[in-house]
Amino acid sequence: MVNRFFSRNTPPGPKGKLIVGSLNDFQIDPLRFLSQLTEEYGNVVRFRLGPFQRIYLINDPELIKEVLVTKQKVFIKSRDIQTLKAVVGEGLLTSEKELHMHQRRLIQPSFKKVHINHYAQDMIDTTSGYISKWEDREEKIITDEMMNIALGIITKTMFRMDFEEGAHILGEPMDAVMKLGVKRMRSLVQLPLWVPSKSNLKLKKAVKTIDQVLYRMIDERRGDSKTRTDLLSILMEARDEEYGIGMSYKQLRDELMTIFLAGHETTANVLSWTLYLLSQHPEVDQNLYKEISDVTHGGSLTPDHFSKLTYTQNIIWESMRLYPPAYVIGRQAVENVEIGGYGLKKGDMVLMSQYVMHRNTAYFDDPDSFNPERFADNFLKTLPPYAYFPFGGGPRVCIGNHFALMEAVLALASIAKKYRLKLASGHHKVRPQPLITLRPKRGLRMIVEDRSKLDTDF
Ligand code: HEM
Repeated sequence: MVNRFFSRNTPPGPKGKLIVGSLNDFQIDPLRFLSQLTEEYGNVVRFRLGPFQRIYLINDPELIKEVLVTKQKVFIKSRDIQTLKAVVGEGLLTSEKELHMHQRRLIQPSFKKVHINHYAQDMIDTTSGYISKWEDREEKIITDEMMNIALGIITKTMFRMDFEEGAHILGEPMDAVMKLGVKRMRSLVQLPLWVPSKSNLKLKKAVKTIDQVLYRMIDERRGDSKTRTDLLSILMEARDEEYGIGMSYKQLRDELMTIFLAGHETTANVLSWTLYLLSQHPEVDQNLYKEISDVTHGGSLTPDHFSKLTYTQNIIWESMRLYPPAYVIGRQAVENVEIGGYGLKKGDMVLMSQYVMHRNTAYFDDPDSFNPERFADNFLKTLPPYAYFPFGGGPRVCIGNHFALMEAVLALASIAKKYRLKLASGHHKVRPQPLITLRPKRGLRMIVEDRSKLDTDF
């Protein structure tokens, strides 16, 4: 795997400033920076962040596969993700090597289709319950609403905790953790958590609040003899095949926190972006509503409808193409390794950006346009693997990918069945904000229109 005849070829790229390299450009607008680099220098680009950190930006499906799959053993998660450890400890997202492999084997069965199908009704009920409070022509901050719905779904499926309770206790500290976490990740110098800086104290307080809820849940469940089917029970009962050992208290907490964090913000963003895109493309909204009406025959939405909502699924795929919640994946080489004829040294970082790759004209015609039809007729199967990779790939592929797709489709169908949304008047220009995930910057204010009160026939 590691090449003895180590290549000395160097890919092209910007020189950057003497000390900081390209750090300023990267920090100011990472999406623009990464897109421009690709345009200017091609499929493999080298640049520097700070005085020593060499980065290789890779925009080639074959090479992405090398990093994520074929040569994955030579890479660990990048420093960015490692800083998340302050929040999620050694959960699936941040752990490495044996611990990761062991935990992944233990947790994977909880995400089997049979369990996820079981959650489908919760996804529909939580969304429908939440939007039943919306009123015709009301203005809503849709980004907050979607965050609450996704948080409601994850707390329900994970703990059978009800929506109001879940969102009320966990919404604010979760949001604080996200914002402070990204601030930490982006700064060149990171104060250790024990330094009582203002943001460290805030971060610790938010983590503590979430921890209290998580530990209370675990304790309550331990003393409870009822058979349950939520994720917490499945995780608590998971046993190592070889030794029959379950997870420790701390490990369970880290995994729960990870799934909590990884499992709501991402889907919430997909839903927000999708509602925004639909508001800009009434013809797609019309087709969506038609499919939902045809599939449900005017009755209630049920879990069985998921597989029949193919156009709705294509809308979600297309939305994740244009605005992938995970817009970049980073890896760090732990040994010298050759990728695409270039010799990467131990410590070098690789970035693979879904945002950039998904707009590559070699794979997507008219890449900036929103066209769910492109995903019809098994389009994905015609693409080389890793030309489209919203859920990453290889052994670290998103464990919640099926959960997320089902959630996004059923939540969108529940919303679109009842409401049509449009941007509120005088709305700011909608732009992506790359935090830990890709959010609409400054949120989305939208008017919800009850379809049954619309004059049009859709
Ligand atoms: C549309 C929604 C989602 C997107 C776009 C997404 C994307 C991703 C991506 C790209 C990765 C790989 C990161 C890397 O390789 O560095 C990942 C990992 C992960 N995701 Fe998701 N995710 C979504 C929803 C979810 C949900 C709903 C859950 C849980 C219920 C979840 C849990 C996880 C976990 C635990 C990992 C770490 C897996 C590992 O390393 O073994 N995600 N996700």
